[in-house]
Amino acid sequence: MNQREKERYLREYALLKQEGKPFFPYAVAKDGAMAAVVMLSIILMSLFLGAELGPKADPTTTTYSPRPEWYFFFLFELLKIIKPANLVPLATIGIPTICMILLFLLPFYDRNPERRPERRPIATTAGIFVILAMGYLTYEGAHAGAPTQIDMETPTTLVAAGGPVLEQFETGKQVVAQSGCQACHIIGENGNDGPGPPLTDIATRLPKQAISRTLVNPTAPMPSYKALQESEPEKFDAMVTFLSQLK
Ligand code: HEC
Repeated sequence: MNQREKERYLREYALLKQEGKPFFPYAVAKDGAMAAVVMLSIILMSLFLGAELGPKADPTTTTYSPRPEWYFFFLFELLKIIKPANLVPLATIGIPTICMILLFLLPFYDRNPERRPERRPIATTAGIFVILAMGYLTYEGAHAGAPTQIDMETPTTLVAAGGPVLEQFETGKQVVAQSGCQACHIIGENGNDGPGPPLTDIATRLPKQAISRTLVNPTAPMPSYKALQESEPEKFDAMVTFLSQLK
């Protein structure tokens, strides 16, 4: 803002102040009335609609898919997009903090007296970009696959083969998805990248026998799935068959 603009602004401000009404009681009464309406709506809504508690927590569930509230989906998605482990603090703490600081400092670096959006191309573009980015991330976060899910196309050769081969592949995929492997392994688009190696193309590195051996007799921290092999051998076999086709 240059000297002339400043003077004009101060003149307009003095004029408006002269003809205006004092904050107390006019503005205070207005705000108070609106606050009362909001409070009353909340009280009436809680009296007549109530809040749902949802089902009781079940500590034995293996299919629970933890999700944040919808207004945190954009952060959730941001965290998902940023894969390297050493960049995770940047996504969770860094970017939101930088945005908050930028917002806090806005009056200091944006001294433009203009108020019309079309006369403030940079601020308008930045604002639209932020809204679009958050909207997109929220949408993607809302549609993210569950951690107990593997979004992997079944190979066309298997689909063509059909029958028991295809069935075993699908069963194996389900067993892997529900056995908690993705807490430590990434499979295609799903799961965590570590501490275990990605399993997306495990078959190119390990033959079927070796995969089976790893599951029964793994190196820590990977848990052994020997109990599964003993109690439900078909499930175990399906899991090994599924893994031995990932290439
Ligand atoms: C607590 C974390 C954890 C869980 C859960 C886990 N793993 Fe692992 N897994 C690891 C780690 C760590 C390694 C690497 C061990 C090593 O290098 O010897 C590994 C290695 C493997 C390997 C050998 C990979 C290679 O490239 O040599 C396979 C196959 C495997 N895991 C499959 C599975 C499957 C299938 C499940 C679920 C049924 C599972 N893992 C669950 C941590 C885990």
